Amino acid sequence: MIQLRESWWKRSVVYQIYPRSFMDSNGDGIGDLQGVISKLNYLEKLGVDVIWLSPVYDSPNDDNGYDIRDYQAIMQEFGTMKDFEQLIDEAKLRGIRIVMDLVVNHTSNEHAWFVESRSSKNSKYRDYYIWRDSKDEHPPNNWGSIFSGSAWEKEDATNSYYLHLFSKKQPDLNWEHEPLRNEIYKMMTYWLDKGIGGFRMDVINFISKDEKLPNGVVHSEQQYGDGSPYFMNGPKIHTYLQEMNEKVLRHYDVLTVGEMPGASPEEARIYTNSANQEVNMVFTFEHMDLDSGPHEKWDVQPLDLVELKLNLEKWQHALHQIGWNSLYWNNHDQPRIVSRFGNDKDYREVSAKMLAICLHMLQGTPYIYQGEELGMTNVRFENISDYRDIETLNMYKEKRQQGIAHESIMESIYAKGRDNARTPMQWTVDGGFTTGTPWIEMNTNTAKINAEQVLADESSIFYTYQKLIKLRKEHDIITNGSFQLLLPNHPNLFVYKRQFEEEEWLIVANFSKEMEQFDWNVYDRRNDNGKVIIANYETPEIEGDIMIVRPYEAFVLAFGRR
Ligand code: NOJ
Repeated sequence: MIQLRESWWKRSVVYQIYPRSFMDSNGDGIGDLQGVISKLNYLEKLGVDVIWLSPVYDSPNDDNGYDIRDYQAIMQEFGTMKDFEQLIDEAKLRGIRIVMDLVVNHTSNEHAWFVESRSSKNSKYRDYYIWRDSKDEHPPNNWGSIFSGSAWEKEDATNSYYLHLFSKKQPDLNWEHEPLRNEIYKMMTYWLDKGIGGFRMDVINFISKDEKLPNGVVHSEQQYGDGSPYFMNGPKIHTYLQEMNEKVLRHYDVLTVGEMPGASPEEARIYTNSANQEVNMVFTFEHMDLDSGPHEKWDVQPLDLVELKLNLEKWQHALHQIGWNSLYWNNHDQPRIVSRFGNDKDYREVSAKMLAICLHMLQGTPYIYQGEELGMTNVRFENISDYRDIETLNMYKEKRQQGIAHESIMESIYAKGRDNARTPMQWTVDGGFTTGTPWIEMNTNTAKINAEQVLADESSIFYTYQKLIKLRKEHDIITNGSFQLLLPNHPNLFVYKRQFEEEEWLIVANFSKEMEQFDWNVYDRRNDNGKVIIANYETPEIEGDIMIVRPYEAFVLAFGRR
């Protein structure tokens, strides 16, 4: 029988590095590529297969590198092209591939294309961006920018507006224009030829806009219209992704993951079905939006575990044997998961391990964000001036202008601000990130939470992640098994079953600080107590019909032939 080769990225675990905050090698307070290289042994020990590097391209850093000035140059603060090549080589020696961030919905306004484009209506680069004439001194439509204010910026010189879904220093590229698309494909080929392992594609489902750019609905308490139905999963998105695949990606054996806010599981089936040749997997936002109000991430709501379970179940089923899931709790845009869905006070370690076990046992490719393996927590800076993130700063300013109290805005920032994820990696009791002054304050708990300490303690969160990564290599059921949710309405227990060939695994996770009862009647264990694969308490007490699941306890049991 011909054995089809399984795609390597299905059995991989990805580690995301936000280079600015990972490791500073030269004392300027900013992380850099030599810093990353110096920590490759640490990542090898953890066991990850892939590093996703947030943008390292030349950038004026309005949005920390997500505003690219030159796609083919390395940001000076991070090092040189030689450093980058060294990183690829040294990572390869350790069996690690480097995946780059591909930010092609927009560039920096300092990119040479935009400088040309804005210079005149007749510029050869005019159509590289989305320009519209001024309508009676009003912007072309009512869309709001994701970073506050209007999504349009006026250029007096040509009496026209350009679209920027993010900051005004991040003008949107016009994907309708073929020469622009070809430039992007050329640039992608340049990096792939250097030996990178793939791309994480920034808001890639925003690149096709409804050309009519209709006004969006203005939701209650909002100042601007919601343009998302006209730019998310737009009319030509599949055409563009297939073209990108045809011209570039299919010629390389690489990992591709599309960041796709607003993509439903049904859409993700299309994006990730290998027959369509678009991307390998997408980052969904649905599970990350469950603790927010319907129209604003800053409107903080408690998480309902039942909703989280049903949502993850929907994605597990939608993509099983059709597409592929990515699995994540954290990245550089999200608050720290242990402070969010776990408990960073009395149960920090145990809840961090529970979250890891619960996520890594799902079907899909897991992503670990730097510091997650240490159980790093959110921060609470007292002064807004200590924050660095443009999204947070713009939102604060806008809400203050609307008369909202400082304290109330700060509570939203403490819960949801992106800088929670961006404080420097905590390597040692004194920080160990830099010998200089860090570009953003360290979290004050580095004496207690740091890499040195977790490495020395074999029962630490770090080793739970290490074990989860190893298990994935050893057991096909993790990669290939089906998923079935048990106890869907239980408010605190997340229980599910994986099944592959003749094996069945049961995963039980308590998302609360209460003692919970698990009734074995919901799972037919046929007089078998199963084998403990991984657990976050020493011995799960499995005997008896009703089992007590301790605060934030999680374990995986394997049952043999069924
Ligand atoms: C998504 C990125 O993850 C985020 O950090 C960035 O601000 C926006 N896209 C704009 O590029």
